[in-house]
Amino acid sequence: MKLIIAAIKPFKLEEVREALTAIGVRGMMVTEIKGFGSQSGHTEIYRGAEYAVNFVPKVKLEIVVPAGMADQVVETIATTAKTDKIGDGKIFVLDVDSAVRVRTGETNDDAI
Ligand SMILES: Nc1ncnc2c1ncn2[C@@H]1O[C@H](COP(=O)(O)OP(=O)(O)OP(=O)(O)O)[C@@H](O)[C@H]1O
Ligand SMILES: [Mg+2]
Repeated sequence: MKLIIAAIKPFKLEEVREALTAIGVRGMMVTEIKGFGSQSGHTEIYRGAEYAVNFVPKVKLEIVVPAGMADQVVETIATTAKTDKIGDGKIFVLDVDSAVRVRTGETNDDAI
């Protein structure tokens, strides 16, 4: 299994969620965060206005999928979240050792 962590622009959340469920993603964690990328200390456009602070609001997605789906998930997020402006986001992929569905006791690929 792979864990995909993505920081995206908040207004893209619904579109990304729809695109991911369409390719078979069955669960995700969503957190409102603040962060910065390579323009740290400079301004970034957020909701049509320049955001003149170091930290910019983003949404973090955490998605665990079977390893064979990871590339497709990354591609889907990258395509859907893209606006061609700075701050479009970043995607990381990590290995996951195990998963358990609490209700049934199913594990690993069966649990996700
Ligand atoms: N190296 C990193 N480690 C962890 N989180 C990061 C990293 N880089 C970016 N992020 C997260 O991703 C968000 C979006 O980053 P952002 O898209 O601005 O990256 P960037 O490298 O500056 O690209 P761009 O030049 O397109 O703006 C940041 O607000 C932060 O939450
Ligand atoms: Mg940036």
